[in-house]
Amino acid sequence: MRHLLSTADLAKDEAIELLDTAAQMAATQSREIKKLPTLRGRTVVNLFFEDSTRTRISFETAAKRLSADVINFSAKGSSVSKGESLKDTALTLHAMGADAVVVRHWASGAPYQLAHAGWLDAAVLNAGDGTHMHPTQALLDAYTIRRHLGGRGGGLRRGGDDGVGADLAGLRVAIVGDVLHSRVARANVRLLRTLGAEVTLVAPPTLLPVGVESWPCRTSYDLDATLADWQPDAVMMLRVQRERMSGGAGAFFPSPLEYTRYFGLDARRLAVLPPHSIVMHPGPMNRGLEISAEAADSERAVIVEQVANGVAVRMAALYLLLSGTTEGTAL
Ligand code: CP
Repeated sequence: MRHLLSTADLAKDEAIELLDTAAQMAATQSREIKKLPTLRGRTVVNLFFEDSTRTRISFETAAKRLSADVINFSAKGSSVSKGESLKDTALTLHAMGADAVVVRHWASGAPYQLAHAGWLDAAVLNAGDGTHMHPTQALLDAYTIRRHLGGRGGGLRRGGDDGVGADLAGLRVAIVGDVLHSRVARANVRLLRTLGAEVTLVAPPTLLPVGVESWPCRTSYDLDATLADWQPDAVMMLRVQRERMSGGAGAFFPSPLEYTRYFGLDARRLAVLPPHSIVMHPGPMNRGLEISAEAADSERAVIVEQVANGVAVRMAALYLLLSGTTEGTAL
């Protein structure tokens, strides 16, 4: 694996290797070996053309825990605001000897251009591009599901502690909300299906993309029926991305009030879930819109743990891309 651009590119064994390596990374962190020497002398550039809290900090923490040198680049305050092109930015990073470039961009496909245009000799990790993909978010979500629910799926191949070696076969995941604008949903559908989970997308018709019928999952317009009848093991709430909706307030249809009433997760809806079900959200959350404070802070919510797991998953991704293999190394 040279780059990490899309979960659609991951074969099942590659996805499981990433999750298992993340488990090894997490184990080193819990033994309080905070820093590994693995990427000493390598340079990781965080190249962010769009705002981020979790992903940017998480990648920076991951790279530093692997002893890499880290350069943080934000488009705001850089020469991008003077009109510098992606190509010239990439050539500058190349001149500085970047070994890996973590890129978040508002344009779907920008990480592909960086990876394949020949401007850089570096591994490219997609940290979220437009409405297209967010592979490390999907990997940390799968890691979190496996930690909590590994062994529950009927077809699950059991591994060791924390489900290491296991896939997600037999588990049911409902992904709820603004699928239309969600790179998290796209990345998760592909990875969860690769790992054997069943997926149902729940959204109003106005927030489902054209062509969703061809995605490898079910769709529903009815959250109450999905929770009560399908009994998902995990419910992944999506942020309503009002910043990607053009055309003024009318573009958000149904209205925020209707949205919360029909598609918001609250205590009443939590109560119909099986006792083992977990509640997920990639963040940042719109509390009171797609998820109530009660649901976000409930015992079922693993939202803060998702953030913590992101560090181990991103350590694994950087490690596998820059070192190539886990064989013969002491993690
Ligand atoms: N989940 C996620 O990508 O969050 P940030 O936008 O804060 O990075």
